[in-house]
Amino acid sequence: MIANLFFENSTRTKFSFEIAAKRLGGNILNFNTDSSSLAKGESLYDTIKTFESLGVEIGIIRHSDDSYIESMQEIFNFSVVNAGAGKFEHPSQSLLDLYTIRQEIGTLENLTVTICGDIKNSRVAKSNINALEKFGAKVFLCGPDDLLPKEIPSHCEVAKIDEAIVKSDVVMFLRVQHERHTDSEVNIKTYNQNYGLNDKRVELLKDSAIIMHPGPVNRDVEIATHLVEHEKSRIFKQMENGVYTRMAILEWIVS
Ligand code: CP
Repeated sequence: MIANLFFENSTRTKFSFEIAAKRLGGNILNFNTDSSSLAKGESLYDTIKTFESLGVEIGIIRHSDDSYIESMQEIFNFSVVNAGAGKFEHPSQSLLDLYTIRQEIGTLENLTVTICGDIKNSRVAKSNINALEKFGAKVFLCGPDDLLPKEIPSHCEVAKIDEAIVKSDVVMFLRVQHERHTDSEVNIKTYNQNYGLNDKRVELLKDSAIIMHPGPVNRDVEIATHLVEHEKSRIFKQMENGVYTRMAILEWIVS
């Protein structure tokens, strides 16, 4: 008995976990904050304690607080899956990204990867930067100065996007997270020209390179709309692989 407990919006993660659970023969409950007793003032603690009392065995949780999901492991008596924790980590996204890279390129070892965009606010970037280090990757970080992290890990290097992507096996664009920063931090009108994928920049990619984005895409901001389904793009493949990866996560927990 599995509960999708999403306290922050989601399409891909929530429904791929639901499909994964159903394909494995599990029962899944989809919690909706707006129609729940949270809207009547029930606390988050009591909401989750309720699912524990009802017999939920796995809670798949997304929350805007960086540390809430980790802290829950100590409190509740069911297995917890992190489906996106604030600006901190998004491990199931990273696993599906790594699976997609290995499937498409044939290896995860010693790759050169560009991550471009709102890195400071991105839990996807943090999980991928941590995971890629284990496979000896060199990671270029690109984006507006205000959206780059303050601390740069030793396997990463801040670079200009046009210089980074010519050397990269994987180019990963990240969503500009309007909800997590002020408008003054990002100029949407010039973003694509300076940091996004456009006709000029796509020509710089290596023949074997792949384009990735965790979604949702701000079309014509991170990626020009006609390039979202470019032959090098694996964006929809990532979504498909999200189901298989999340099936593996659920099966691993159960077994
Ligand atoms: N990539 C991702 O986490 O998408 P959702 O917010 O739609 O789940």
